[in-house]
Amino acid sequence: MAGRADLFLLLLALASPALVAVAASKDVNALQASALAYREGALERFRQDLLELASKPSISSSSAPEHQQGILAAAEWLRLKLESVGLVGVEVLPTEGPHPVVYASWDGAGPLAPTILVYGHYDVQPVDPLGLWESPPFEPSVRDGHFHGRGVDDDKGGLLGAVHAVESYLKGSEGAAPVNLKFLLEGQEEIGSPNLAPFLAKHKRGLLSGVDLALSADGSQISEDQGGVNTGFRGAVALQVDLRTAHTDIHSGSRGGSIENAAHALVQLLATLRDPKTKRILVEGFYDGVVEPTDEDRADMEKYPFDHDAEMALGIMGFTGEEGRTTLERRWHRPTLEIVGLGSGFQGDGIKTIVPSASSAKLASRLVPGQRPADVVEKIKAHLEKHKPPLTNLSVSVLGFRADPWTSPRDTPGNLAAASVLRELMGREPLHFREGATVPALAYFSEHLGVPATVFAFSLGDRIHAPNERLKVSMFDKSSQAWIRLLAELGRGGRAAFSGAGGGGHSEL
Ligand SMILES: *[C@@H]1O[C@H](CO)[C@@H](O)[C@H](O)[C@H]1NC(C)=O
Repeated sequence: MAGRADLFLLLLALASPALVAVAASKDVNALQASALAYREGALERFRQDLLELASKPSISSSSAPEHQQGILAAAEWLRLKLESVGLVGVEVLPTEGPHPVVYASWDGAGPLAPTILVYGHYDVQPVDPLGLWESPPFEPSVRDGHFHGRGVDDDKGGLLGAVHAVESYLKGSEGAAPVNLKFLLEGQEEIGSPNLAPFLAKHKRGLLSGVDLALSADGSQISEDQGGVNTGFRGAVALQVDLRTAHTDIHSGSRGGSIENAAHALVQLLATLRDPKTKRILVEGFYDGVVEPTDEDRADMEKYPFDHDAEMALGIMGFTGEEGRTTLERRWHRPTLEIVGLGSGFQGDGIKTIVPSASSAKLASRLVPGQRPADVVEKIKAHLEKHKPPLTNLSVSVLGFRADPWTSPRDTPGNLAAASVLRELMGREPLHFREGATVPALAYFSEHLGVPATVFAFSLGDRIHAPNERLKVSMFDKSSQAWIRLLAELGRGGRAAFSGAGGGGHSEL
């Protein structure tokens, strides 16, 4: 229910939106100044927060008790944090899986201000191979100007930038902020957000109603001094392929050469998936409907500062991929189908003379606009059935990792605000870029909440998902400042900027 003053502003807004915008932006400038001042004094404590949160072993794909507890410990840490910064209605809400959502809200900015949903995730990737870590993954530390530890970047460092900006407003400006807020921090992103869609559907008309824009703190930045607005992520599906040729492994001397070998059969089957020369995926209909890059997309790829040295530092020996496409095009605009895991036969030291009776592979596909997960799964299954080697039993199952591709026009209110902040912060014109990776939540926000999304993240993708994950301290510091400026920019635009912007994510393209 709007108060008397709000009602007055509302009437004024109808009569003269420009007047209200001027009044609002004066207030917002003052709020932003207090928040920035508060942040200066709190930076050291903000860094400590990241070290604390990153010490929780919240590996979502693991069923080990210490990781399940790590999930709950990270969620509880965030609950206390969000409460202490002054958000209200803070709750650890169950999903249909074992990993809860940490939710919070604040609506003190009034009905003329937009309501922003901040999205991030507190779960992390597994840490193996453990032996390759220079320091234990869940004993985070700062050295060489970087935070080191699992999750310091993806996404604990990312989400804390937003939390700290909100703290700076609510603590630094006597409990005021330029926008209304909701936080949705999930614990399942690294396993493909399997329970997020039902969670959104369930809370759409309740806790999550009235949202104008979702901001994802999960994503990345181009470099420390070149800002970029992300306009697309690929989608994904994953499959498990199992072949059996007998009930048990069989002596390779007595029977070898006269019976089928499950390892050979699998290699033969997998080889049918891709043309060895053109690297095109041979699954029938795989490229159907795939949207070609526009001239604008091509210009974005040309302007993108491709870091050749960083690529070579990975130890790769060159680039390859679908014939007739550039490297960035292959990453941003073309789908993949890759073998991501493979197993059969004896893997121990030395030799064991058997004919393997079982083999398995995990396949993952990154999808681009024009492709739908369910359709691609059916096509891959049909291909595997069709090419199944004789004398084998094949079973194909769908794994949980599944998401629609997501793209966003560059001129949504959220993207324009992000661009303006990045321009100011980095002193140069931001670029537009896409990512080959996947954040399932983005397409869900448009599909289930009818809400557009903007990615606002400060990761440089440094060894994320790999041993020795790290995040530059200076990037982490920059993120809270950037979030303060972004929330102010969105507050200045007011809620009116979002009218008609509902569901701007074009996941159906
Ligand atoms: C292969 O499938 C058939 C039919 O389902 C089944 O009877 C047989 O036991 C299977 N063989 C193996 C080795 O899994």
